[in-house]
Amino acid sequence: MKSTKVRMLTKQTILFMALGFATQLSWAIDAQGFQKQYSDEAKQTASIARGEKFFTSKHGKEWSCATCHNAPPTSDGKHASTDKTIAPLAPAFNAKRFTDEAKVNKWFKRNCNDVLARECTAIEKADVMAYLINLKK
Ligand code: HEC
Repeated sequence: MKSTKVRMLTKQTILFMALGFATQLSWAIDAQGFQKQYSDEAKQTASIARGEKFFTSKHGKEWSCATCHNAPPTSDGKHASTDKTIAPLAPAFNAKRFTDEAKVNKWFKRNCNDVLARECTAIEKADVMAYLINLKK
């Protein structure tokens, strides 16, 4: 009786651990992971210099990425129209950055549209990631 209970408990524990592990795996994305994903998609090597230029330049519209995120984006930025504070974008200065795929996709889409009037290409995103990852404390 006792050993059956123990065995059931063990089974449950293993199941829970496996579940936890699987959940962690599916969420374990970081800035390097995004950079690799975009470079693979573009079939091209990312460039830090190109990323910096892209990030700090205007692309036909009123704003650059740096307008809201600063250049370098290692300190709090300020939203160009709402004045709201935006936490640093460079992952070394903000551990929450590039850990949530849905958030990253949503904001790349929205911000690229605001700055370029189109979505960013894979190589543009790969370059931005290379630039951001290279910003160290
Ligand atoms: C008009 C202001 C504005 C501009 C311009 C802007 N952003 Fe943002 N960005 C935001 C805001 C607001 C958020 C969401 C709030 C936050 O995450 O702090 C955000 C979030 C992001 C995120 C989410 C990252 C994460 O994991 O949290 C990425 C990636 C990003 N921006 C990239 C860019 C790039 C690349 C450009 C230039 C093409 C750009 N942004 C231009 C305001 C801006």
